[in-house]
Amino acid sequence: MSGFSILSTAKAVPKKVVTNDDLAKIMDTSDEWITRRTGIKTRHIANDETTTSLCTNVAENLLQRAGVDASEIDFIIVGTMSSDYQTPSTAASVQGLIGATNAVAFDINAACSGFVFGLDILNSLLNRDVESKGILIGGETLSKMIDWNDRSTAVLFGDGAGGVLVSNQGSGEILSKDLKTYGEKGHSLTAGHISKTDENADIYFHMDGRAVYDFATHSVPESIKRAAESAKIDLQDIDYFVLHQANARIIKSVSRKLGISIERFPININQYGNTAAASEPILLEELTQHGTIARGNIVALSGFGGGLTTGTVILKY
Ligand code: ACO
Repeated sequence: MSGFSILSTAKAVPKKVVTNDDLAKIMDTSDEWITRRTGIKTRHIANDETTTSLCTNVAENLLQRAGVDASEIDFIIVGTMSSDYQTPSTAASVQGLIGATNAVAFDINAACSGFVFGLDILNSLLNRDVESKGILIGGETLSKMIDWNDRSTAVLFGDGAGGVLVSNQGSGEILSKDLKTYGEKGHSLTAGHISKTDENADIYFHMDGRAVYDFATHSVPESIKRAAESAKIDLQDIDYFVLHQANARIIKSVSRKLGISIERFPININQYGNTAAASEPILLEELTQHGTIARGNIVALSGFGGGLTTGTVILKY
């Protein structure tokens, strides 16, 4: 298997911060309910930022931090469920804006598993004889799809983007992956329904929160266990578990079910809410910048959500 070394990480979030108290002024909710049920305190909501502008900001910072020229990039993948256009893809727009003229660019949509699915796709693309580099970004403006009259979903989501610049040289590598899709459960979480024939179609989030919660707390530990088994490593040897930030209670439940200390499950949902494909790269960027995760660490990244989907990638950083 080829190398998979993360040369840089970056994130970008909209300027505007919305607190739980701000939401309580426009809907029947409270800081107490949102904090206790989800762990969220604030989220960033786009005003003039777009999925494209956030992802472009991330790509520019990735290049600058890695000291890499845009012309050296071979692939750009954006994981998103809230692209500004159906076409062009966000990745194609980013490619044009940063002048990465040698890069093949495309989006993938696996909702909150998008970043993890993207890691596996980028790893396959980089598995070639010549030295190659790729950018993977998870970027979302989910607020476009929020029904501010529906308190059961409106309090959960936020906007942002995060990403990694990866080389197939160096000591990093992907040790294993476990990706799954459960299409038969897809209708427990929908958004962005565009239809010429269904008069009930709307772009808003609709979610059976309890069903998705049960799905996540059951399927995520199983996915992590399968990935660890496939990498032939003990769960205790994984330094950090970077999980999709959908609900702090889900992360605590996964930690309990795996018998691994919660200290190894970093959480930043309090600041950003659920940013779907962007949540793991935003967290990874913060852990890298703070020096928490360092070269040589074993990191399990695990996403879950729309599709329904789950995905775990275990990598040596
Ligand atoms: N403020 C106050 N009360 C509320 C709110 C709110 N914002 N939202 C719902 N309630 C009420 C409900 O009406 C209900 O009231 P009732 O008991 O009188 O009927 C009560 O609170 C409990 O509601 P539940 O939905 O049962 O609350 P739960 O504890 O399940 O928490 C939540 C809801 C946070 C959505 C949880 O189910 C969850 O996190 N689900 C998983 C979400 C997820 O992981 N999504 C996946 C990724 S998203 C993606 O892929 C894009």
